[in-house]
Amino acid sequence: MKKTKIAIVGIGRVGATLAYQIINTGICDELILINKNPRKAWAEAMDLNHAMGYSDTIVNVIPGDYAACRDADLVVLSVSAPYVTGMTRLDMLESATDILKEVVPPIMDSGFNGIFLVITNPVDVMTYLVQRISGLPPERVIGTGTSLDSSRLRKAISDLMGVDSRSVDAFCMGEHGDSQMVPWSQVTVGSKKFLEIIEDNPLRFGGLNLDEVSQSVTQVAYQIVEAKGATSYAISYITAQIIEAIIKDKHKVLPVSVMLNGEYGERDVYCGVPAVLTSRGVKELVEYNLTEEELGRFKQSIAVLRGVNAKLL
Ligand code: LAC
Repeated sequence: MKKTKIAIVGIGRVGATLAYQIINTGICDELILINKNPRKAWAEAMDLNHAMGYSDTIVNVIPGDYAACRDADLVVLSVSAPYVTGMTRLDMLESATDILKEVVPPIMDSGFNGIFLVITNPVDVMTYLVQRISGLPPERVIGTGTSLDSSRLRKAISDLMGVDSRSVDAFCMGEHGDSQMVPWSQVTVGSKKFLEIIEDNPLRFGGLNLDEVSQSVTQVAYQIVEAKGATSYAISYITAQIIEAIIKDKHKVLPVSVMLNGEYGERDVYCGVPAVLTSRGVKELVEYNLTEEELGRFKQSIAVLRGVNAKLL
């Protein structure tokens, strides 16, 4: 049986938390930790391996270098410059671009021919950059995109409705950032359209302001980062779910950053759209019948991303 192998490049707070989530879920057989400071990678690997004295899931955690990516099934890019309070994700463009231009070529020189999963912000633009630098087919270069925002949205609706978040089907589209949007027409709770629930229950939900709900989802990360210096648990948890969907060929639909290739009338841009994830990467995207207003907001977000992509090239 081929052993599954994942590498994480960038063992900061997010990379280390993701590694911990991976050993807890036993998603792969081998986990390679690669860091600018190799001593840090070694220490995190040792600390994680020591957790497996009593573990039911055995993952061999090894500090490595880019050459170790050669036979990796998937490489996660969680490298980033330190976040400066008050910055937007798009403000991190220059530092992130420099780092990825330094990191991706030696990974490709190792002979890596698997799937890239990008966390580095601004994630949609960085995923586009990684695809261009690596030359891998777009279906095998994926960003975490609006998966985290969608998790926040599901939790927010779950709290509002007093319903288990697993009974909420909701997602964000577009930029993982300030211009993202929620296609409320597609949201369901217990398979009933959310907008119909609000209409049918004016006493309970008549005062609900949907723009406020989506704004709170978009802005909450800034408050967390301001208070603790970064976000780490949620992004790591949802990234592990994306990895599991790919590694275990689940054909699971998750809102990730993918290259549009004619869907919604757009192409040559990465943005958050629910996609079917398999062991070969993105199988297909979901094209929703958005309202005119929703489509307009989605295309506005894409326009923001195109403007930033243009700066890259
Ligand atoms: C956040 C970071 C990962 O939204 O962009 O928490």
